[in-house]
Amino acid sequence: MKAAIMGYGTIGSGVAETLRVNHDVIARRVGEPIELKKVLDLREFEGDPIQPLIVHDYMDIVNDPEIKIVVETMGGVEPAYTFVKAMLEAGKHVTTSNKALVADKGAELIRIAKEHKVNFMFEASVGGGIPIIRCLQSCLTGDVIEYIAGIVNGTTNYMMTEMADKGADFDDVLKEAQAKGFAEKDPTADIEGYDACRKIAILTSLVAGQQVDYKDIPTEGITHISADDIKYAKKIGRKVKLLATSREEGDTYACRVAPFLVDPENPLYNVEGVFNAVLVHGNILGDGMFYGSGAGKLPTASAVVGDMVKIAKHLDKNVPIEWKEEKLELADPGLDKYRFFVRTTDDQGMIDESFGEGVEYIDADIVPGEVGFITPEMEQRAFDEKAGKLTGVVNSIRLA
Ligand code: HSE
Repeated sequence: MKAAIMGYGTIGSGVAETLRVNHDVIARRVGEPIELKKVLDLREFEGDPIQPLIVHDYMDIVNDPEIKIVVETMGGVEPAYTFVKAMLEAGKHVTTSNKALVADKGAELIRIAKEHKVNFMFEASVGGGIPIIRCLQSCLTGDVIEYIAGIVNGTTNYMMTEMADKGADFDDVLKEAQAKGFAEKDPTADIEGYDACRKIAILTSLVAGQQVDYKDIPTEGITHISADDIKYAKKIGRKVKLLATSREEGDTYACRVAPFLVDPENPLYNVEGVFNAVLVHGNILGDGMFYGSGAGKLPTASAVVGDMVKIAKHLDKNVPIEWKEEKLELADPGLDKYRFFVRTTDDQGMIDESFGEGVEYIDADIVPGEVGFITPEMEQRAFDEKAGKLTGVVNSIRLA
């Protein structure tokens, strides 16, 4: 069984390492070894054992009839999309770790794979090594999934944990995370929530069975979370976590990515550092949580190689995935209901006038001249209107 890797970066080299280290056990499970035959990359990798396998033109893989399984670990939509499409059309199975590609082109690539009687798999695209995609597609297909809440970005969860543990401010924690290699040199996709947005778009597409456009999901990152917010969070016994959520609303879903103040009773409260977790509520299952290493070389490679083994066992068969290209219109995010924590320099008279009865004031002198309070549950749109009447709002964070 011959395979190829497109993109010999962190994850691609992890896949090569996994095929080498677990060569025998994989051979036993598949019935024959999976041998790496070609590696596509722009670089040469002089002196690396992989060097003789390096090719620079993806058509070298397309035109190699021996290669049955192709791993895509390049990242980004293009040229990954062009290359993956060509592989599927040439009758090769593909597995990818690329959430940008899956969120944008997943439904189409699933259709193309089906038309060519091959498989397009993407377990590693959400939650790294956590087997959440396969669980949603097989173990939980007897359930209606009513709610998903995930900590699906390791970088931001690490940063939130460090800010809470050390009382440090955002910029200092980000610099330290970059120095330790936990955050990218350009951390925009993580800290602005774009990475988590694509992941919840993928999970929602799978449970809804049709294409969710990630651009429709209201997405806030963690850049506006300060050390003072964390002090307020501690005062009310909660932790700030970047959550990606999806809730069934009638025949569609309401999705959001934002920092939330998480209650200790919520199972996501204890998910710390670079770990990921996805909490799922099925109408039959009730609650289930999938927890583990959500990013990094080997955890992600574990999921990719798991897909390769699954593919190797279904070489002559397309394993159906229900994810149609027809776009799902998401529910109006203005109707989502939350309790909101608010920090403001407005006086209590103004706050009571805007929000009326039921506001809980936080008895803490964290920032002089500032008041912190929690609203009763209300729709997002009603909150925006009421908060819009205040003039001194410093920050607001939803409760979960
Ligand atoms: N940058 C991502 C994270 C990598 O921090 O979780 C995994 O998708």
